[in-house]
Amino acid sequence: MNQFEEGFIFGAATAAYQAEGAVTVGGKGKTYWDDYLEAQGVFDPSTASDFYHKYPEDLSLCQQFGINGIRISIAWSRIFPEGTGEPNQQGVEFYHGLIDECLKNKVEPFVTLHHFDTPEALYQKGDWLSKEMVEAYVAFASFCFKEYASKVSYWITINEPWSVVAGQYIIGHFPPNIKYDITKAIQSMHNMLVGHARVVKVFKEHKYPGEIGIVHILESKYPIDDQLSSAQAAKNEHIVANQFLLDGTFKGSYQADTMAIINDVLKKNNGTLETTPEEFEVLALAAEELDFLGINYYASHFLAAYDGESHIHHNGSGEKGSSIFALKGIGERVNNPTIPATDWDWPIYPQGLLDMLVEISQRYPNYHKMYVTENGMGDKDVLENGTVSDDNRIDYVFLHLEAIQQAISQGVNVQGYFMWSLMDVFSWTNGYNKRYGLFYIDFATQTRYPKKSAHWFNSVSRSQKLIS
Ligand code: NOJ
Repeated sequence: MNQFEEGFIFGAATAAYQAEGAVTVGGKGKTYWDDYLEAQGVFDPSTASDFYHKYPEDLSLCQQFGINGIRISIAWSRIFPEGTGEPNQQGVEFYHGLIDECLKNKVEPFVTLHHFDTPEALYQKGDWLSKEMVEAYVAFASFCFKEYASKVSYWITINEPWSVVAGQYIIGHFPPNIKYDITKAIQSMHNMLVGHARVVKVFKEHKYPGEIGIVHILESKYPIDDQLSSAQAAKNEHIVANQFLLDGTFKGSYQADTMAIINDVLKKNNGTLETTPEEFEVLALAAEELDFLGINYYASHFLAAYDGESHIHHNGSGEKGSSIFALKGIGERVNNPTIPATDWDWPIYPQGLLDMLVEISQRYPNYHKMYVTENGMGDKDVLENGTVSDDNRIDYVFLHLEAIQQAISQGVNVQGYFMWSLMDVFSWTNGYNKRYGLFYIDFATQTRYPKKSAHWFNSVSRSQKLIS
């Protein structure tokens, strides 16, 4: 039972801003991160993993280490430096080169169109809260399809809408650093879904070859105890962070049980959600046509009731207790002492992945095809004798792959698994101190070193068997 079906993808993930570096090279325009990070002066994203220059080496490592799929994203501001207007030919060529190199190495590219990196010019206009952004996104995606669709078989419209809005409007650790504005968060998620749906429509209308999906971060929410109020808190967070997006994606409308909670949360936060009938038309069409769902899964959360004002503390230090989360009208995430957690307080709970996969396949039975598009463990890896003995990471991945096998044996259609991340990359809120890669990077020299996990992943991929 530890065998994966032939064709199951063992991949690894990257994202343009976190891997490429070269933020001012080749005519690239700014994203909303550039000035913000420069003003903060703590983390410098300008070189990151230097994937911009080193991708041939990285793709050859993929081939050597049995990694047969890669998530890459197209930096919108490399193609359209101002978000709209004339394309920047150097940027266009860069992605031709990168995609060709993937194909040359027999590493299937899964290409994301928006991975947290809105161009600065569109961010200034309101980002996903503005209609102009949605229009510009459709134009950018249409351009990418025309340019690259003949060689890309898997497209991802948007990466993790929930993380974007949680960062921008709830936790406030992504620009514009707004805290506790749940109304803006919900509105922005809706607008992202509309952008996603319109792009699916373009893709299908043109009958491009290949498949199109969306990636959601989906983390299960459990009550911390058997109090009814804790169960309600868990349900509230599940609906706001997961089910709202899943309904929009798969049903093309928010179901009554979803809206009951969303309306209640909006009311408690004095907000409303603006939608139009035309938006629901396109959402419904995309729900029909969507090819797959990508799930990013890292952790699950345990909740208790909470009556007070929103209160979030997240300093990214990697110290225990550095991430506290309590939301008005929703609930409070609390520590579950029986569950191990990473140094960043992320509970390690593979059962949450299994539960989520099963729940999705039951609530949305027509849409079975899924990929786990990110999973992995951030750690403070230490390089010793040219490698990292990351047994913790191997255990983590083993347990999550085991959960996937259990889901498959219960009839859930999961067709691939991508580790976050291929190599150590720039982390949005932790810079270079939180490492996830299969390959360690010495950022001073940009030298790559395979970690123990890379060797282990290689044997799993080549045997298609989960071995410890
Ligand atoms: C999800 C995001 O897609 C990625 O950009 C991020 O770095 C990882 N999670 C780890 O937090």
